[in-house]
Amino acid sequence: MIYVLNGPNLNRLGTREPDIYGKTTYQDLVDMCQTVAEDLGASVTIRQTNAEHEMLEWLHAAADEGADVVLNPGAWTHYNIAIRDACAMLRGKLIEVHISNVHQREEFRHHSVISAVATGVIAGLGIDGYRLALEHICR
Ligand code: DQA
Repeated sequence: MIYVLNGPNLNRLGTREPDIYGKTTYQDLVDMCQTVAEDLGASVTIRQTNAEHEMLEWLHAAADEGADVVLNPGAWTHYNIAIRDACAMLRGKLIEVHISNVHQREEFRHHSVISAVATGVIAGLGIDGYRLALEHICR
């Protein structure tokens, strides 16, 4: 099982700052990940939460399973040490994905507390980043 986990505000995709995040809705993102996973012959579980404790529990379960994770931590990327610590427990691959190019944006988005414990990072490629992350994991 591959987990695609999305943090705060990503359920608002499509209406949230479309100039930055595009018009693709969260449901479109879910559908695209499902289709990509099917094409790759992989099983994927796609989730979103605005609650830190829920994300921590999902990461703990992924760590216990030794599963690979595609994670868009949203704003938690930039400050949440508890999420980072849970990411550090993972035994499978961890691909950190950002829809926007965080390095082109406000300075507070330039640093990720997650990247140092991630296998790799994709930023600025829109929702295509999720597809590339899934393809990489399945290679
Ligand atoms: C984001 C970038 C973050 O800075 C922001 O807080 C998000 C989304 C992205 O996908 O570009 O919520 O992770």
